[in-house]
Amino acid sequence: MDLGLKGKTVIITGGASNIGRGITLCFAKEGTNIVIADLDEKQAGKAADEARALGSKAIVVKTDITDYDAVEAMVKKTIDEFGAVDILVNNVGWDLQQLFIDTTPDFWDKIININYRSVLNCTKGVLGHMIERKSGVILSTGSDAGRIGEFREAVYGGTKGAVIAFTKAVAREVGRYNVRLNVVCPGVTIPKSEDEYGEDSGWKLSRGFFTDEIMEKIVKAYPLRRLGTSEDIGNAMVFLASDAANFITGQTLSVSGGYSMM
Ligand SMILES: NC(=O)c1ccc[n+]([C@@H]2O[C@H](COP(=O)([O-])OP(=O)(O)OC[C@H]3O[C@@H](n4cnc5c(N)ncnc54)[C@H](O)[C@@H]3O)[C@@H](O)[C@H]2O)c1
Repeated sequence: MDLGLKGKTVIITGGASNIGRGITLCFAKEGTNIVIADLDEKQAGKAADEARALGSKAIVVKTDITDYDAVEAMVKKTIDEFGAVDILVNNVGWDLQQLFIDTTPDFWDKIININYRSVLNCTKGVLGHMIERKSGVILSTGSDAGRIGEFREAVYGGTKGAVIAFTKAVAREVGRYNVRLNVVCPGVTIPKSEDEYGEDSGWKLSRGFFTDEIMEKIVKAYPLRRLGTSEDIGNAMVFLASDAANFITGQTLSVSGGYSMM
């Protein structure tokens, strides 16, 4: 099936590492122009090289997506380079698993800024342009923690729940302009090698937690009996960005082996 993505332009925030890298490579396979908006220039450069090897025109625009002015500059650079923004993937997210009772207001601010404020910044950054063109797709990486609640992920789950509610509301507002918004919720997704994640990846902080025993327990909770890969998430994003999904908006799709069903 021709997904109609060749020659279109996608901005992928956090497109350098782990899930974001997988999303980058899945769009690259479709011949999409790619802008990786990430703080980690080194890892983003590696992902862009891999995307170019697959035939995509990929560039890196170093951006702190919690800063609205920086996001506006990144969107302008994208339009100067490729002429338009067809798709935005709000993928950056961060967490440090802990009980809510142990969290602090500084932690709340950090996680709300990275996981939610950034989605507002980037969505606002492209929305006027998409409305004017009467065409656009905005996808966000959510989490099952934002749908069902997870132990030790109260603040994180709250921000992902906010992303889901925000997506539905904006999808109602801009559907008339042919702009669609959807959310993809990964399950536990672990990089396959050190090449696949950057210095600032959340995986670096949390990998000590994922002992063999814990991994075994997690896999048992997934009806499909395996963990997800970054390609699983990238493939879902590519589908939702494509013409094949042009009647789908305001939806939340869990790509987590059946872990959550709703
Ligand atoms: N990995 C999982 O198991 C899992 C599960 C469910 C949901 N998610 C969600 O998937 C998304 C990606 O997760 P991941 O594990 O691949 O992340 P990761 O930590 O490996 O990568 C995040 C990327 O974002 C970049 N980044 C961080 N702050 C930034 C900022 N302010 N501006 C620009 N770039 C910034 C980092 O440099 C890094 O390249 C997140 O939204 C996360 O919440 C992940």
